Amino acid sequence: MKIAVAGTGYVGLVAGVCFAEKGYNVTCVDIDEKKIELMRQGVSPIYEEGLEELMQKNNARGTLHFTCDYVEAYRDADAIFIGVGTPEMPDGSANLSYIAAVSRQIAEVVEKDCLVVVKSTVPVGTNDKVEQFIKDFLVHDVKVEVASNPEFLAQGTAVHDTLHAARIIIGTESQEAEALLKKIYEPFGLPIVSVKRRSAEMIKYACNDFLALKISYMNDIANLCELVGADITDVARGMSFDERIGARFLNAGIGFGGSCFPKDTKALKFLAREHGYKLKTVEACVEVNSTQKTRLFEKAKERMITFSGLKVAVLGLAFKAGTDDLREAPSIDNLRLLLAAGADIYAYDPKGEERAKAIFPEGGQNGGSMNYVTSITEALEGANICFVFTEWADIKAITPKEFKEKMHTPLVYDGRNLYDTAQMKAFGVEYYSIGRH
Ligand code: UGA
Repeated sequence: MKIAVAGTGYVGLVAGVCFAEKGYNVTCVDIDEKKIELMRQGVSPIYEEGLEELMQKNNARGTLHFTCDYVEAYRDADAIFIGVGTPEMPDGSANLSYIAAVSRQIAEVVEKDCLVVVKSTVPVGTNDKVEQFIKDFLVHDVKVEVASNPEFLAQGTAVHDTLHAARIIIGTESQEAEALLKKIYEPFGLPIVSVKRRSAEMIKYACNDFLALKISYMNDIANLCELVGADITDVARGMSFDERIGARFLNAGIGFGGSCFPKDTKALKFLAREHGYKLKTVEACVEVNSTQKTRLFEKAKERMITFSGLKVAVLGLAFKAGTDDLREAPSIDNLRLLLAAGADIYAYDPKGEERAKAIFPEGGQNGGSMNYVTSITEALEGANICFVFTEWADIKAITPKEFKEKMHTPLVYDGRNLYDTAQMKAFGVEYYSIGRH
């Protein structure tokens, strides 16, 4: 079985590598030559635990190939997985131009019957259009079908999530397509839920938006906890024992970021509106998240006369721990506000520095200044105020004593609820977090 994968981002690359790991002959295609060259040498363009090791292992045993030559990759493939991006358009809809470009290439070069499998998150009904589009442009007399196979991996645990997924969703319109996808996934030994294409597309949005709703709900309750004197961590703990609610995704904080929840909540809202329906729950979730992201800065603004000329320690830039990704990270909104307010920022992130530099170059900016440091100590030393944006283990491990001793003023705004409020108080740290006292 020959498998081709279009796109080598989080979805495409991880899928390609995991298929190769299961013994398939896999060719990953990307338009970026530099990236392809690096991947051929076993270097992953993204930080993801365990990914490079598997790339190198499968490169070496000849099951994994990287190329810019899509003709070679698609021509005689049995299955072509599409994992290219579907970024957000200014109106909140999904940009399908990358999917369209790959579909056209496939139509023009396939010389053998094949199954095109859309892994990218796409609005309901897109797979139908992709199939029609490919048929419209087919050059050779072959049969091409399209199936939906949404991806549920989370960044930071991508390889693990793929190899040990809770379930595989396959959306097909024919028994042949269903049988082929089931066969491809057989070596993974995971539960498979087989539905029609449109339902598969909807499952992906329904899952992501449900999780996003769960977070916004907890953030909403956390804000109320602050007003009424309750503690959100205790509330969440109490809720978590109810199996109908579950223990995960109950962490209140500075709002969700990343390339998925912000995009997929807006895309579903847009899809509903397009069909004349107002998805009130999801719209509320988007609204709660957008104000939650800068809640800490707003709190700090109430306390400070100015940020100008102050050393501001920023701990964590990535949208969550375990990744170098900053897309839609709440840190970005806060850094913009802090810089505009004249702060001298000293930022630390164990993985996200390079990507952060592309958004906030080092040096004077907008009235303030941006400085990157390679240790927590350098960030905290002499700082007037500290913001915590990402729950990295080394940031979590900072003790109240360290805040007290290293900072000029031990004033900490924690967007991840990482430290014990009583202990911080006991050590003389002025500490603000989300939904706690
Ligand atoms: C998310 C989903 O969890 C995956 O199942 C899905 O496949 C993926 O989107 C996708 O569509 O590709 P991801 O964006 O990598 O994965 O990260 P999550 O771990 O879900 O976190 C998303 C955001 O929510 C982060 O900013 C995180 O800090 C925040 N979050 C998460 C909270 O604020 N509280 C929580 O309790 C959990």
